[in-house]
Amino acid sequence: MCGIVGAIAERNVTAILVEGLKRLEYRGYDSAGVTLLDNHGRLERRRRLGKVSELAHALQEQPLAGKLGIAHTRWATHGAPSEANAHPHFSGEQVAVVHNGIIENHEVLRERLIGLGYVFTSQTDTEVIAHLLHHTLKELPDIADALKATVKQLHGAYGLAAICMAQPDRLVAARSGSPLVIGLGLGENFLASDQLALRQVTDRFVYLEEGDIAEIRRESVQIWDASGAVVQRENVQYHEGAEAADKGIYRHFMLKEIHEQPKVVQRTLEGRLGQNQVLVQAFGPQAAELFAKVRNVQIVACGTSYHAGMVARYWLEELASIPCQVEVASEFRYRKVMVQPDTLFVSISQSGETADTLAALRNAKQMGYLGSLAICNVGISSLVRESDLTLLTQAGPEIGVASTKAFTTQLVALMLLTLSLGQVHGTLAPAQEALLVEELRRLPVRLGEALAMDTTVEHISELFAEKHHTLFLGRGAQFPVAMEGALKLKEISYIHAEAYPAGELKHGPLALVDSDMPVVTVAPNNELLEKLKSNLQEVRARGGELIVFADAEANFTDEVGVHVVAMPHIIDALAPILYTVPLQLLSYYVAVLRGTDVDQPRNLAKSVTVE
Ligand code: G6P
Repeated sequence: MCGIVGAIAERNVTAILVEGLKRLEYRGYDSAGVTLLDNHGRLERRRRLGKVSELAHALQEQPLAGKLGIAHTRWATHGAPSEANAHPHFSGEQVAVVHNGIIENHEVLRERLIGLGYVFTSQTDTEVIAHLLHHTLKELPDIADALKATVKQLHGAYGLAAICMAQPDRLVAARSGSPLVIGLGLGENFLASDQLALRQVTDRFVYLEEGDIAEIRRESVQIWDASGAVVQRENVQYHEGAEAADKGIYRHFMLKEIHEQPKVVQRTLEGRLGQNQVLVQAFGPQAAELFAKVRNVQIVACGTSYHAGMVARYWLEELASIPCQVEVASEFRYRKVMVQPDTLFVSISQSGETADTLAALRNAKQMGYLGSLAICNVGISSLVRESDLTLLTQAGPEIGVASTKAFTTQLVALMLLTLSLGQVHGTLAPAQEALLVEELRRLPVRLGEALAMDTTVEHISELFAEKHHTLFLGRGAQFPVAMEGALKLKEISYIHAEAYPAGELKHGPLALVDSDMPVVTVAPNNELLEKLKSNLQEVRARGGELIVFADAEANFTDEVGVHVVAMPHIIDALAPILYTVPLQLLSYYVAVLRGTDVDQPRNLAKSVTVE
């Protein structure tokens, strides 16, 4: 949520800050702002409601220049999206602050600061930080010292950066609960909430850890840990190509990311498959020993990642005979959980920074779980750093807010986990594992075949253009796939979409079905097919229009009101991965038809780092 960029250099940094914001826009985009210390030593600010392009436009009309600056793109929490609430926030035109996260005690601090004579110009929690820092500077004139004293008074989560008029040679930052990274240049240094923002200027990064305070100058960086001791944090060279930053031939990041799935699934499998087996050590050197002790699995995640966990439950129980529970992190973290002995805690997250998932992991570590495994797409994330074991999905940076390639690579990672547990426990026959390993190797090709249905799905999407409600049905492991299909559609096209296990249809949702409510079904050729067919008859009998994604051999025929899309044949266990693809395409094309903002849908953010 929200994005931060900062820079200190010998050149004008305005363009660097704005480009950084554009790259972070997927995190929040209801307003944006930038502050520079101009050549007269004054803090100058431009803020605009709306996207970064509005800010860029404002800067064209009224340019700003300076060698020290901070910038922000916002996803509103406290105070509606407005120019007054946009960051950076000032105190007395001497201090400027940008902030990600939530300051929980902002009301108490606000009262105290008002008592001290400060005047607030926004409804944000961030403004208290600016005034508090300003007030502390009166006692502690060094901005790093003042920041250290200021953050001691803050409760909640923050990644923040500040500059002050009196100290034009430095930028300071603090991290607690919201990530920050320093980008190292030659005679210039940078700061951002995600290294993606800085890849245009450097490939060398230092990741701040929880509780760290940093002082960034042109030629040096100094970091203190939570205890106030000076620390050295590792200097990391980033190797990945610049693939994420542009859309290439695609109109939207989402479409690009959908089409990347064969490649990134292949990458997620690389180095993890032996000839007939999954290589358990892919989960880390201690994995085999830990896995041998696992008798239960608890999965926790949010959003799309939660749906991946729901699919994994079917796999773990059916293929590895390991009992599994799955829960959304926001519920898990506040529930009194009765932990079964020898339970492995598995968190799933694209970003590795989702506040609820991270809090659930931190709670779990106090609750007697056997160990923790993170399935995550970001190797340097908090979730990875704080888990015992990690399996990285190799999806590459995902920019579209609606998650696509992260989901399918999570499913692949979870299948690797299932096979590993089955292998270590001897609950999965070697021949069955060998077959699944072979099918996994073929999966990228199958995904390519599913993507070739692009135009067919685009035609089908026309059925949805004028609709207000839809129903998604699936049975077994395809039920979470239906849930993910419904989530995608509502996220980006704003059509109300609900998913149901097909067997539940007659227990309620059938009452809603009429010719205005299309019903989407995923129907691989498995033992539930005949039951599913009867459920679909129930829909047809009520005049509901059916869209069926079905195995080519499943004997569905196109007829009036029934649109069948033949899917490539695939082994049942891997069908959830394949059947996800047409549902992603469907939501994409419906959103394009309806003219919504596909990559940055309203009210949502890519990475939810607040509760
Ligand atoms: C947000 C995103 C979703 C994502 C969810 C969990 O809601 O918009 O696409 O599935 O967060 O994020 P995570 O990074 O933990 O997978």
